[in-house]
Order: sequence, then C-alpha cells, then structure tokens
Amino acid sequence: MKPFLKSFFVVVGITAMISLAATVPSSTQKPGDEHKAKNLKVLPKDISHHDLDSIMDNYKAALGVKCDYCHARSKEDPKKLDFASDEKEYKLIARDMMKMTDKLNKKYFKEHEGNDNIAAIQCMTCHRGNEKPEFQLRPPRTRN
Ligand code: HEC
Ligand code: HEC
Repeated sequence: MKPFLKSFFVVVGITAMISLAATVPSSTQKPGDEHKAKNLKVLPKDISHHDLDSIMDNYKAALGVKCDYCHARSKEDPKKLDFASDEKEYKLIARDMMKMTDKLNKKYFKEHEGNDNIAAIQCMTCHRGNEKPEFQLRPPRTRN
C-alpha cells in the first residue's frame, strides 16, 4: 500500500472511533437524566430521575401533602418550584426523617430480613397520610 493511502485509512479509522465514542452515552448517564439533582445530601447523588420521582411521590402520599409542602417557590418564576432550594423548614425536617428511617432499617431490621436493601420502616409506617402522625389514645382501662 502506498504510504499516503495508509495514512488516509488511519485518519478514517481514528475519525470513526471518535464519532462512535461521542454517540455512546457514558455509563452513568441514562436517558432522561439531563436534569441532574443539584442538592442531594442524603440520597445518592447519581440517583436516576425515575427513582427520585418515585421517592418524592412516596413522601407526598405518606404525608398527604403536595410537593410545595417541602419545596419553596422559584424566585424567578413563582409558578415553578425550586427543588434544589433548602429554604423550607419542612425539607430540612424531611432530611432528618430520611436519616432516621434509614437508620431504623439498617440497624434494627437488617439481620431480621437477612439483607440491607429492605425498607421495613417507611414514612408511611408512622405518618399514614398525615403531616404529623396521629396518636390515638385509648381510654384508660377500667379496673374491676
Ligand atoms: C416531605 C417533604 C418532601 C416532599 C413532599 C417532596 N419532596 Fe422533593 N425533596 C425533599 C428532600 C428532603 C429533598 C433532598 C433530599 C436529599 O438531600 O438527599 C428533595 C429533593 C428533591 C429534588 C432534587 C432537587 C435537587 O436538585 O437537589 C427534586 C427534583 C424533588 N425533590 C422533587 C419533588 C417533587 C416533584 C415532589 C412532589 C411529587 C416532591 N419533591 C415532594 C423533600 C420532599
Ligand atoms: C418512626 C416514625 C416516623 C417515621 C418512620 C417518619 N416520621 Fe416524620 N414524623 C414523625 C413524628 C412523630 C413527627 C411529629 C414530630 C413533632 O410533632 O414534632 C414527624 C414529623 C415530620 C415532619 C414535620 C411535620 C410537621 O407538621 O411538623 C415531616 C416533614 C416528616 N415527618 C417527614 C417524614 C418523611 C419524609 C419520612 C420518611 C423519610 C418520615 N417523616 C418518616 C414520625 C416519623
């Protein structure tokens, strides 16, 4: 093969490799992950959009509230929520609740179930659809 032809093929080969690499998505980035969470302190930072969504829906149902119960309105566009903002007290309380719930599961339910992925205790376990868990005091027992 003539030397100029050889280098031509090398260039074509390299170009093909570069354009291939550009089209293959990086392993951590899944489709729909363009809106990466910016301010996660308890949940894993690389959580997928889908998983984050279902966790948030869970909180909403467990407490019987809407997203804006924990998330402040955006300063630029008050019609939208600024999910990354830590302005609302309830979001901070929720973080503590997440840590507590996680600890309860890891510490007290791990061996019991034989693995650490279970969520025996969830927000719903205590809250049952209420902002504050309701306590039903039973009437005192009458002695005979
Ligand atoms: C009970 C409180 C609560 C409710 C209700 C709630 N969230 Fe959240 N949300 C949080 C907390 C706490 C975090 C931060 C978690 C962390 O630090 O790991 C968060 C984080 C997020 C984030 C990531 C923001 C970022 O960039 O870091 C998004 C997006 C989000 N929530 C969306 C929603 C949506 C949508 C709803 C309604 C379906 C919702 N949340 C309802 C407490 C709540
Ligand atoms: C072991 C029981 C328990 C679990 C599990 C639990 N909570 Fe709570 N939570 C409580 C209690 C009790 C209160 C009320 C505390 C008070 O009155 O000061 C509360 C209060 C809150 C509040 C403040 C509500 C208010 O009106 O002051 C938020 C927000 C909250 N929890 C979010 C969560 C989230 C999110 C989860 C799941 C990650 C969760 N909680 C799991 C027991 C629990």
